[in-house]
Amino acid sequence: MNGLKVDELSVRYIGRSERALDEISLDVTAGHIVALAGRTGSGKSTLCLASSGLVPRVVRAAVTGSILLGSADCEVEATKANAADLGGRVGIVFSTPSLQLSASKPTVREELAFGLENLGIARAEMDGRIDAAMSRLGVEHLADREPLALSGGEQQRVAIAAIVVMGTGVVVLDEPTAQLDPQGTSEITELLSEMAADGRAVLVSEHAADVLGAAGSCLVLDKGRVVARGLPGEVLARSEANSAGIDPPTVVTLAIAAGVTASAAFNERAIAAGLAAKPVRDVREPSPGTRIEETSHWEPILVRATTPVSIEVKGLSHTYAGGVEALRGVDLAISPGEAVAIIGQNGSGKTTLVKHLNGLLRPTAGQIVIDGRDTASRLVSDLARTVGFVFQDPDDQLFHSRVDREVAFGPRNMGFDSAHISTVVESALKLTRLTDQRATNPYDLDLSTRKLVALAGVLATESPVLVLDEPTMGQDGPGRHSIESIIRAWRSTGRTVIAISHDMEFVARNFDRIVVMRQGQIVLDGPPSMVFAPTNVTVLESTGLRPPPAARIAALMGLSVVSFDAADLINASLAISASRQ
Ligand SMILES: Nc1ncnc2c1ncn2[C@@H]1O[C@H](COP(=O)(O)OP(=O)(O)OP(=O)(O)O)[C@@H](O)[C@H]1O
Ligand SMILES: [Mg+2]
Repeated sequence: MNGLKVDELSVRYIGRSERALDEISLDVTAGHIVALAGRTGSGKSTLCLASSGLVPRVVRAAVTGSILLGSADCEVEATKANAADLGGRVGIVFSTPSLQLSASKPTVREELAFGLENLGIARAEMDGRIDAAMSRLGVEHLADREPLALSGGEQQRVAIAAIVVMGTGVVVLDEPTAQLDPQGTSEITELLSEMAADGRAVLVSEHAADVLGAAGSCLVLDKGRVVARGLPGEVLARSEANSAGIDPPTVVTLAIAAGVTASAAFNERAIAAGLAAKPVRDVREPSPGTRIEETSHWEPILVRATTPVSIEVKGLSHTYAGGVEALRGVDLAISPGEAVAIIGQNGSGKTTLVKHLNGLLRPTAGQIVIDGRDTASRLVSDLARTVGFVFQDPDDQLFHSRVDREVAFGPRNMGFDSAHISTVVESALKLTRLTDQRATNPYDLDLSTRKLVALAGVLATESPVLVLDEPTMGQDGPGRHSIESIIRAWRSTGRTVIAISHDMEFVARNFDRIVVMRQGQIVLDGPPSMVFAPTNVTVLESTGLRPPPAARIAALMGLSVVSFDAADLINASLAISASRQ
């Protein structure tokens, strides 16, 4: 039997005074999925690392308590076992695929063979397993590509395939869907259910509602302790979860209003039926704890006024050195002050497109005109004054050993005086809520916080155009609220915001224009109400997308009004129900 049993586990990293985990106990038995939810820094990743034996074997820490892997007659203690003992029993998917991939294998196929070779598996069996895993993760077409020259989501799919291939009895996944398109996220949800049905024990840390909803039980962590546990549909609506930095997922809020039981809280058909039949008003507002102040503390950063900047992309094509045609004739005009979201399936060309805006990539054909000037002859350092760019992977961006120096780099490079630099650095740190981390080495922070450091560095340049490649990746409730208020504040000064995201709710709420990409081309461009209208569902599905949950449920109810907000949909249901009486 496969299983993971954690008993009174405490972990304190070397050099830290507080515990990252404080007497955690949990039991993941064969055939079950247990989900971990909680804000950034609550201990989820530490629990994943310890469960796979990487803490303390690779990451040094003082550990007490025990972690047993396997069955009663054949268990190993993860905190003491060696790599060979652990390798065949537990597989872990990291939250950052670029750190997980070996960087030494020239092709995806060889990357997937890597772990199996270490176990001495015969070639024929190895090939069979690799083919099955690639097909399961939809990466067959990438078999001969170089793993590190893939898009972020493609890398994440390969990293998950690398664990599927191993077939271990215990599977641990730390935010496996952070970079996946919505369809990819539902595929992973199905994959986890299949693994459980196959008798494996699955532990998954996530923010995505779909994945949390697939678990039989959900633990909410806060400051290294378990503050709530139970059915996901019930636990995620609790005030303890809200105080722990978790916004109740929209489906869960709607499920409560629809009067469906916690075990059906993620069943959209049941919710639609409940809302149509007998909606109730009893919906808890998120506690003020997770809401952050609006733009009041924003003002100081806007030392410099902005000039309106227009962007024109004309007939843009880009073919990478290996021959991949990532963009095929893209035309896009963005007026000064617009907020534009770019969405589309993994590998559809979103990152490639925005990297042209600040000269990180140059067109194979076509033209980029910014502020009336062709960018062809302009240097990246010159364009950076106009277009501030936050990378998808923060590790491609950060290189200083202190957060404040990292944030000061941009304005210093632009030649501002030290008084100006210190004003903008302080403001950027405050906005991203990193003031307390000013002296920390960015690489001692987790992925979502490193992403905020990169964002702070760009905010400090006060550029007229802000480009964000997946800003909400891995962010918890408070992190997402900070990003939303930064976007609003940036726009309120006439500046332009362009963001790529896989979070359909985030784009529907914060952007008035959405550009949809598929295989290197733009296939839809319009306001959220147009892009997410039921008539466009087929086009969206053809590029791995789905409308946000409230819009999906509204469509199931046959409502023509597209709603993105739980409260709007509940009010509409109440009004329909009242009109019937
Ligand atoms: N450095 C590279 N070298 C070669 N091909 C690349 C490189 N980066 C991306 N590609 C390929 O170009 C295509 C578009 O990739 P891009 O990164 O723009 O996608 P994306 O829409 O941002 O995807 P994701 O949602 O996964 O981030 C994909 O087929 C990808 O494999
Ligand atoms: Mg991308």
